[in-house]
Amino acid sequence: MATQEKTVENTQLKDIISHAKEYGFIFPSSEIYDGLQAVYDYGQMGVELKNNIKNLWWKCMTQLNQNVVGLDAAIFMHPLVWKASGHVDSFSDPMIDNKDSKKRYRADVLLEEKAAQYENEGDVEKANALLAEMGKLLEAEDLDGVRELIIREGIKCPISGTANWTEVRQFNLMFSTEVGSVADETNTIYLRPETAQGIFVNFLNVQKTGRMKVPFGIAQIGKAFRNEIVARQFIFRMREFEQMEMQFFVRPGTEMEWYNQWKETRKKWHEAIGIPAESLRYHDHEKLAHYANAAVDIEYKFPFGFKEVEGIHSRTDFDLTQHQELSRKKLQYFDNDLNEEGKPYGNYIPYVIETSAGADRLFLMTLCNAYTEEEITEGDNTKSRTFLKLHPSLAPVKAAILPLTKKDGLPEKAEKIFNDLKFDFNMIFEERDSIGKRYTRQDLIGTPFCIAVDHQTLEDDTVTVRDRDSREQVRMPISELKNYIEKAVSFKSIFEKLG
Ligand code: GAP
Repeated sequence: MATQEKTVENTQLKDIISHAKEYGFIFPSSEIYDGLQAVYDYGQMGVELKNNIKNLWWKCMTQLNQNVVGLDAAIFMHPLVWKASGHVDSFSDPMIDNKDSKKRYRADVLLEEKAAQYENEGDVEKANALLAEMGKLLEAEDLDGVRELIIREGIKCPISGTANWTEVRQFNLMFSTEVGSVADETNTIYLRPETAQGIFVNFLNVQKTGRMKVPFGIAQIGKAFRNEIVARQFIFRMREFEQMEMQFFVRPGTEMEWYNQWKETRKKWHEAIGIPAESLRYHDHEKLAHYANAAVDIEYKFPFGFKEVEGIHSRTDFDLTQHQELSRKKLQYFDNDLNEEGKPYGNYIPYVIETSAGADRLFLMTLCNAYTEEEITEGDNTKSRTFLKLHPSLAPVKAAILPLTKKDGLPEKAEKIFNDLKFDFNMIFEERDSIGKRYTRQDLIGTPFCIAVDHQTLEDDTVTVRDRDSREQVRMPISELKNYIEKAVSFKSIFEKLG
């Protein structure tokens, strides 16, 4: 018997999108009304997978790091927060419209796609030169120069096929709404475009009440909202999404050391959840955000190319300084440890290293990485199988309990096993259809173990356990099931890789 797997590169995004829909991972939002662009809902399997990813991230941040604690700040914040952070004035994307198709595009994305095309054609030098030139123009806020570059590169609108472009304009990405019953400007508040600011404004609350000493971090998971104009590639770029962010407060002057440390730790985390090292890479930012003095993306090789899943940013003391100025409340930390000269550091505003991952992008990465099609040849017969090779600790369902038939007391026996294990694991009990069909259904949602209850079970209290990836079956006593599953699905193996 031989098996052959299809690689991620050969997998089409459209296969993954239809798989996600068909097996209850992701549905278009408000689908019965034809959906809402760039907004998605997580179905019965999707919510489990996403919760597992978030839970793992949370535990890795807070349980593995004694000096990182959690927070859950509100989505609505005082409007001055976004003035202080710079989002009101400069959280915008350079947009360009095609006059013929009336379609709007992100100017930088058009150029990045052109660079990716050069790279795919093997001309990495040309790709890098284009990205460097774009970076310089954006840095200098030379929007006319960006337009000229688009025209010089012969970039055309994919809808109209023409290069009849408008000028490039900046477009603010924040959603606004009003609080209270009177709609005037003073009541305007924003849906947060990043979770980070909730951490900054609570920096002293947490530091004081938790008696935290620099260096320390605050982690948070929550929704963020951006009025993305170019919303494509499924859940990669959404208008409502979830971030998993951690701000790590350090002594001024030590930030590059911590930046490098977190950069490495975070890449290791992605590898620990089963993403192959060759599918990940760093991408240093050409154009730094208004708050950063160093920034790198961790990119994953999606079916549509290497794209960002997480950013690590050295945010200096920009945010805390800005909040101190606008709120007129001191946001300083008193450091009573000694410096190299043996003197107390005294008061300072800490520098910040941020790790910022998108829960939805990690979800898409996990799904793309797990989606496997294989050909199985047995003698003259070749059949194909699709399954999700998810890390067992992330799989939505850990085990399925399957009585071989609906009679002879097998369902009752199987139900007892299910009832004993359901307190420990998310499981499925299924008695409909042939056992083969039931195995297939579990493969498609990535369940690592299928436990078959047969007539021998009634005699000797043993069951067969089928492994999702190898399809091999082992017979084991019911009393060993809990430890067997626990060993595979616990976060411990991941924790151990992270030290
Ligand atoms: N606090 C820093 C910050 O927000 P960012 O690079 O704009 O930085 C961080 O966003 C992460 O959030 C990205 O790496 C990505 O995973 C996720 N993200 C950003 N915009 C997104 C969108 N429109 N849809 C889904 N995820 C998004």
